[in-house]
Amino acid sequence: MIKIEIKTEKPYEVLIGKAILSGLGGHILSAHKACKVAVVTDNIVDALYLGQTEASLDDAGFAVNSFVIESGERKKTPAVYLSVIDFLASSKLNREDMVVALGGGVVGDIAGFAAATYMRGIDFVQVPTTLLSAIDASVGGKTGVDLAEGKNLLGAFHQPRLVFYDTDTFKTLSPDDIKNGVSEGIKYAVLRGGKVLEHLTAGISDENIADFVAECVKIKRDIVEADEKERGNRRLLNLGHTLGHVIEKLSSFGTPHGQAVAKGLSIVARASNRAGILSDGELNIILDLFAQYGLDISLGYSPHELISHLSLDKKASGDDAVNFVDIIGIGNCVVKKTAFLDLKKYIENL
Ligand SMILES: NC(=O)c1ccc[n+]([C@@H]2O[C@H](COP(=O)([O-])OP(=O)(O)OC[C@H]3O[C@@H](n4cnc5c(N)ncnc54)[C@H](O)[C@@H]3O)[C@@H](O)[C@H]2O)c1
Repeated sequence: MIKIEIKTEKPYEVLIGKAILSGLGGHILSAHKACKVAVVTDNIVDALYLGQTEASLDDAGFAVNSFVIESGERKKTPAVYLSVIDFLASSKLNREDMVVALGGGVVGDIAGFAAATYMRGIDFVQVPTTLLSAIDASVGGKTGVDLAEGKNLLGAFHQPRLVFYDTDTFKTLSPDDIKNGVSEGIKYAVLRGGKVLEHLTAGISDENIADFVAECVKIKRDIVEADEKERGNRRLLNLGHTLGHVIEKLSSFGTPHGQAVAKGLSIVARASNRAGILSDGELNIILDLFAQYGLDISLGYSPHELISHLSLDKKASGDDAVNFVDIIGIGNCVVKKTAFLDLKKYIENL
């Protein structure tokens, strides 16, 4: 099993292994005494992994109750969040009790936000079952839900007590869900190069998946430990996300997060290249990765449309600029406060 320690204000471990789901209860018990546990999952993961998860928690002495939400980004709403809160209250959880988020980033974000706010905050454990959540969403403590006005507008920082995942659960993911995870992996490869880039170039397989996810988590660990509340360089993790979030919103949350990030990241890469910052060779390495994994980076929206929506949102909250992540080279990205006018010039006619 691979163990990575995250030294945030409240430290915790990320445990990664193959065929380890049945050991979940025992591992939680070493970080938390027996208590009531509310497992939150979605209707797809329910049929696949809820039984095993409940049995493991039950065997370890936890009193388990489970709540199933409908899967999908369109369900990452305040109403679903409130239904989870109602469930925690009706299950009579108190401050000593715990939430377990079993599923992808949507479940993790909603259940984490419920744990962050129920009784002003109770413990929660992330058990990610998608590649995207394993390498990104489950680590770092960002929780929340979307509003019609935009992504993740209602949320809180709340670090989990433990992140635990079984890489065998990725075997049931659809090819599209694998692609969505790879997209965030390409983000890490662009931010830091190194082993993540090597793994992606070589191809992700059952043999190297645990090492690949661990290398991604280590990059996130280093960035989050240095800037837990995103006041500075944690913004690097938003590479491709500023435009990606606009794409998700324009599609009424129909374009999956990973695919939207791929589109956003490819715009930034091409714009950085056109501005003479990113070399042709490194641009091609990035674009080749999207092609290798079959990620669709066609825009579907004009750059003008994207910037107009971005500026509308941000200006409504009083800003005339955004923190934008520029790619100088692979392993060399910077956060720059960029005025909308400059951003528009930067990406138009791509
Ligand atoms: N909190 C953070 O720091 C952070 C970071 C990145 C992304 N996110 C959020 O994560 C979300 C995207 O996460 P996602 O891509 O995991 O989406 P998701 O949670 O919607 O999962 C994708 C699909 O896979 C299904 N699924 C989950 N595990 C499965 C398995 N093992 N086998 C078969 N099907 C399975 C789900 O039911 C769903 O239909 C977005 O809302 C995004 O904003 C959060």
